[in-house]
Amino acid sequence: MNLSPALAEPLAWPEGVARVPFRVFSDPEIYALEQQKIFRGPIWNFLCMEADVAKPGDVRTAWVGETPIVVTRDHDEKLHAMVNRCAHKGALVCLKQRENLESLTCVYHAWNYSLDGKLKSVAFRNGLKGKGGMPEDFDPAKHRLQPLRVATFCGLVFGTFSDETEPLEAYLGAPMSKFLDRNLGRPLKVLGVHSQMIHNNWKLYAENVRDSYHATLLHTFYTTFKVNRLDMDGGIILSDKKWHHISYTKRSTLAAENEYETVHSGQYQSDLAGPELLKAWDEFEDGITHSIQTIFPTLVVHFTLNSLAVRYFVPRGIDKTELFWVFLGYERDDAAQEQMRVMQGNLTGAAGLVSLEDGCINEFVQRGTRTSPDEQAFIEMGGKVAESNESSRATEASVRGFWHGYRDIMGFH
Ligand code: FES
Ligand SMILES: [Fe+2]
Repeated sequence: MNLSPALAEPLAWPEGVARVPFRVFSDPEIYALEQQKIFRGPIWNFLCMEADVAKPGDVRTAWVGETPIVVTRDHDEKLHAMVNRCAHKGALVCLKQRENLESLTCVYHAWNYSLDGKLKSVAFRNGLKGKGGMPEDFDPAKHRLQPLRVATFCGLVFGTFSDETEPLEAYLGAPMSKFLDRNLGRPLKVLGVHSQMIHNNWKLYAENVRDSYHATLLHTFYTTFKVNRLDMDGGIILSDKKWHHISYTKRSTLAAENEYETVHSGQYQSDLAGPELLKAWDEFEDGITHSIQTIFPTLVVHFTLNSLAVRYFVPRGIDKTELFWVFLGYERDDAAQEQMRVMQGNLTGAAGLVSLEDGCINEFVQRGTRTSPDEQAFIEMGGKVAESNESSRATEASVRGFWHGYRDIMGFH
């Protein structure tokens, strides 16, 4: 059975992954198709942090595309993910972002589920005083919350609707798993969370976090205070299928004689009134001081100086996306290290000194493209294909890599 609606007007995709038809950012039919083919398709969706469901009875609501999900840890400590939709008439069962519960009860007619989603009891199942109630052939075992497959890696909880999705570690691949382990592979401590609504299609943010070309140009704080610049050593690593990526920078490799000659003279002479903002320590021996890693389609992990965070984004409509930030430290951190991570947290997030521009730049693309569905983006910086490049980040290779994944799954060629 093909559940995916066909497009009334087929999409022609010109010239491979170096072009993107603007229609994909504004066509409601394509948006609906993505919900089926991508989010309910053969991919692992990030759901929440394992820390969100650390204890038996912990319940956390999440999303896969627009579909509401509930993640639970049962009393045997097993994790479950299910569609947050009552088996009776489809109401949301869990209404709070997080709580700790013995079981799940729908407020509408009080159908009650165990933490693994099995239906335990139905109010007035036998009616009252011998009247009413469910028919004789009602079988509670045939009604439950729809389960997803669930898997974890380095404190991240993922879910998939598809039986065909490969095991999570194979989906991530060795280079991506290794780098996730570098950043997240020890007991984590959540330092703070927040979210922001951005007014653009979800794929524009997926592109934006893979776009190593813009960081030096749009985010002037990065360049001014030498946190991340294209003239530092760095590179791009794509996963085997090109869907995921790592972009990394080595700050200490910036040589004074290589300072930019630029028309923006004076841009690089600023001083911070509070230089402690950028007080950092060298945490890893590989020399990498800034990295952004993406896992297709909607997960991001960044490590800027000592600021570690997981970001993920949830489509809220064709031109609306909610972007979540989870700032992290390690349980082993001392008080001074934790304070430095919190301070550097000012770099990113909704009002972050190097990320507030991303909160509006994607909207500018949305507004610029929505009336030109037949035009297309030109994405040839660094070539026309999607390949790793360990010598330069002046490339849009990772953006092209995203479109590889998107086109493969959507069947747009
Ligand atoms: S909709 Fe949940 S019990 Fe009726
Ligand atoms: Fe950015």
